Amino acid sequence: MDEKFIPLSVPNIKGNELKYVTEALETEWVSTAGEDIKRFEEEFARYLGVTAACAVQSGTAGLHLCLRHYGIGPGDIVLVPTLTFIATINPVLYQNAEPLFFDCDEHLGIDVVQIAKYLETECSFDGKRTVEKASGKQVKAIIPVHVFGDYANLDALIPLAEKYALTVIEDATEALGTRIAEGRYQGKYAGTIGHAAVFSFNGNKIMTTGGGGMIVSNDVQALEHMRYLSQQAKDDAVYFINNEIGYNYRMTNLQAALGRGQLERLDDFIAIKRRHYALYAELIGKTVYSLLKFRSAGWANCWFYSLLTGTEDASVRDALIRHFSAHKIQTRPLWRLNHQQKPFEKFRHMPCDNASRYYAQIVNLPCSTNLSPADVERVCSVLAAFGEG
Ligand SMILES: Cc1ncc(COP(=O)(O)O)c(C=O)c1O
Repeated sequence: MDEKFIPLSVPNIKGNELKYVTEALETEWVSTAGEDIKRFEEEFARYLGVTAACAVQSGTAGLHLCLRHYGIGPGDIVLVPTLTFIATINPVLYQNAEPLFFDCDEHLGIDVVQIAKYLETECSFDGKRTVEKASGKQVKAIIPVHVFGDYANLDALIPLAEKYALTVIEDATEALGTRIAEGRYQGKYAGTIGHAAVFSFNGNKIMTTGGGGMIVSNDVQALEHMRYLSQQAKDDAVYFINNEIGYNYRMTNLQAALGRGQLERLDDFIAIKRRHYALYAELIGKTVYSLLKFRSAGWANCWFYSLLTGTEDASVRDALIRHFSAHKIQTRPLWRLNHQQKPFEKFRHMPCDNASRYYAQIVNLPCSTNLSPADVERVCSVLAAFGEG
């Protein structure tokens, strides 16, 4: 049978996107200024219930601006998860700061118990600054990542960050629309709890602007400074006066027009993602495999689905990915753990046993909102046939 290709995660652009981009083109405001950028920021902030938003070229650029704004600099320590896309960590290096890698919990979020132990036993706090006793370096920030649309354990993390005066920058790039299901932040959106948060609109995300990102915060002044930095830190539009080093990180008006069309459809996308997740869970439940659970699938955006092979023998994972590929189904393993990535080898890491276990056995399944129930059924029947010769 001539099977169609099922990609892992591709955009869904069937609403007002073309209309808004065409209108933006007609105004000839195509670059890093224009009404759509302002509107997109306002609509996005309103959706999440935050005070302000700043549209940028990518999630990576957004994370970089946050680190720069919050004064993370040479020699400072930033607490990060090993299990995340490398773009969470690279901006720490752009600022010549040092990542310190932590393990993950059962929802792939940073291991807060391990962080607490580190802060309590290896650091001292003088009422203002947290210093690592052995190195004398200052611990300044934590970047929790809301992996695959689940959320990190902020209930436990935020009180720790408050106790040690640490800046919390949420990497919410994958979790747009995810809400917290229980605890003191119940009902709040992921990305609205820390000092600032960053979302990504890369082509594989729940909504896309082709490439792009958004920083959000309830601290208007902080966000204004980041916006300023994103536009080359220009202080005077006539005489080109600059008093700080800035970046060319601003989103374009065309991207923002596309984003406005996508944002209108975000809740529909989330509903589809949840339906597909439930169908996968039901069908995979009939096999020997299982699907990683979200803290609550009814509150998560269910962006990416993680199949667990049930064995820590990574060759099974790789054989399964090849098997799917032979059936024209695109899947992928988790990211290589960051503490093992070449650029970060020289930095310290905590024991990362959970992350290593998940790394060995997770296969991410197709999750585009364009999937049909029949596509999900085909993925699951190909899975069920794995190992049947
Ligand atoms: C966890 C994580 N952090 C950061 C990024 C970076 O976002 P972008 O690709 O928009 O730079 C991504 C996505 O690509 C991501 O998945």
